[in-house]
Amino acid sequence: MADKQPFYLTTAIPYVNGVPHLGHAYEAILTDVMARFKRLDGYDVMFLTGSDEYGEKNAKKAEEQGITPQAIADENTAAFQEAIQLMGISNDDFIRTTEARHHKAAQEMWRRLNEKGLIYLDKYAGWYSVREESFFAEGELREDESGQKFTELGTEVEWVEEESYFFKLSEFTAPLLELYSTNPEFVQPSVRLNEIKAFVAQEGGLRDLSISRHKNRLEWGVPVPNDEDHVMYVWLDALTNYITGLGFPDMDDARFKKFWPCDYHVIGKDITRFHAIYWPAFLIAADIPLPKTIFAHGFINVNGAKMSKSVGNVLSPEELVKTYGQEPLRYLLMREVSHGQDGNFSHEHAVQRINSDLANGVGNLAQRTLSMIYKNCEGAIPAPNALNEKDKALLETAHNALYKGISDPDIVNQFKFNEVLMIIMNFVGECDRYVDEQAPWTLKKEDPERMKTVLYVLAEAIRCIAISMQFVTPGAAGKILDQLKVSDDERSFAHISVEYALKSGTSMDKPEGVFPRIVIEEAA
Ligand code: MSP
Repeated sequence: MADKQPFYLTTAIPYVNGVPHLGHAYEAILTDVMARFKRLDGYDVMFLTGSDEYGEKNAKKAEEQGITPQAIADENTAAFQEAIQLMGISNDDFIRTTEARHHKAAQEMWRRLNEKGLIYLDKYAGWYSVREESFFAEGELREDESGQKFTELGTEVEWVEEESYFFKLSEFTAPLLELYSTNPEFVQPSVRLNEIKAFVAQEGGLRDLSISRHKNRLEWGVPVPNDEDHVMYVWLDALTNYITGLGFPDMDDARFKKFWPCDYHVIGKDITRFHAIYWPAFLIAADIPLPKTIFAHGFINVNGAKMSKSVGNVLSPEELVKTYGQEPLRYLLMREVSHGQDGNFSHEHAVQRINSDLANGVGNLAQRTLSMIYKNCEGAIPAPNALNEKDKALLETAHNALYKGISDPDIVNQFKFNEVLMIIMNFVGECDRYVDEQAPWTLKKEDPERMKTVLYVLAEAIRCIAISMQFVTPGAAGKILDQLKVSDDERSFAHISVEYALKSGTSMDKPEGVFPRIVIEEAA
């Protein structure tokens, strides 16, 4: 067999100043769904996530709580690790930026930039947003009546004056503009690329970037090589996690050789600038090839409003999994949010969507078909007789159109999983119409041989649906495949084909429902 093609993707690594919320859940699930999709499509996938433990934001939170930054990082990293388990995330590694392997990678990055003469010591005097861990020019800020200045995202800035190392980002204005125009896939969706281009092309170009904090102000960071008075700016350290995970600084490491350059860095739209400007500039400077695509997803709001503690609408992955179940939650988020856009979450809508698509849709189709087979065909896959045009048409869609539709590169490679799921659900609808028309329950008395054909066709269609849904609901789809006795090595997309169709006579297990209905509680 030919070697599998490598495919590398990452999530942003969340700050650990707090516990995970729905926004983090969405990003982890979106990336996981792509990772699982590509594995089913025959790729050798490496999927990395982790935690961003340094920086002022984390240090300040620890101070507020009267604990050490390491203690808060340990506590919240554990919460993130638990959350990814709860959401069924299939990451291959998890980088904590406080790990020795990451210090090594970040410090090597620094050395490389320094060797190129791209780092110099100077004084920083300017505005800083701790919430965004980012520097701002006067012109990027607005002011309220009291004189407090805010960023575009509404976070407060403070004036900082300190000795700092700088990276000569200004030298990268032209190479970056060249990158965006020769490789428009570098940032997706294109609306985000256009924002970045406009920012880089601003008059005067990019300004040099402060890349260290003096110990008088912040001690919580990766130490700067050869200067114990400074720690590295958190974004320089954090971005490097994407190569720490492949064994950098050892560029001969088998993982690095196989998986770099990265296929997708999946991030939220608020941090596009760091990924589309700083990261490629650092990499060019360090003679490391650039990732292929930065994919910036939208934000999830709750009941139409931005999640915030003061509004009281912050949802945790734990509560969500408890209310809806792990896989219905994954389905819901992927079905509801369109490519790169903001999405909204509301309980009423969630219940409606889960019940209509999963419980009443695919769950009901599988349960009623497989139960009929179990009861009326001696617990084994029946043998079909002569197939009529309708039977053939349904199987044709299952074997050809379904996979072709969901694997269309224009859809998948742009993370349009809502469209992928609509294609699958349309096919479920087609199967439902077929059951209603063929009415196997009537055939049971009138024409039992025809009933067997109809049930066979349906079981085969359900096999294809279950294979195609594994990337979003792996457990439930896996259970359907177990019930149909499909072997583990015949569950990838390549097996959605007539060649691997169900064998008549295979005995089945007693079917059990895989997607329970969610009962709406009456408001108190
Ligand atoms: N630590 C940085 C990332 C460093 S990557 C080298 C960071 N952390 S974060 O905790 O603020 O955000 C982590 C990810 O969650 C980001 O991609 C961010 O966009 C995403 N989200 C945070 N809130 C979100 C929503 N409400 N909706 C969707 N994603 C959101 O930024």
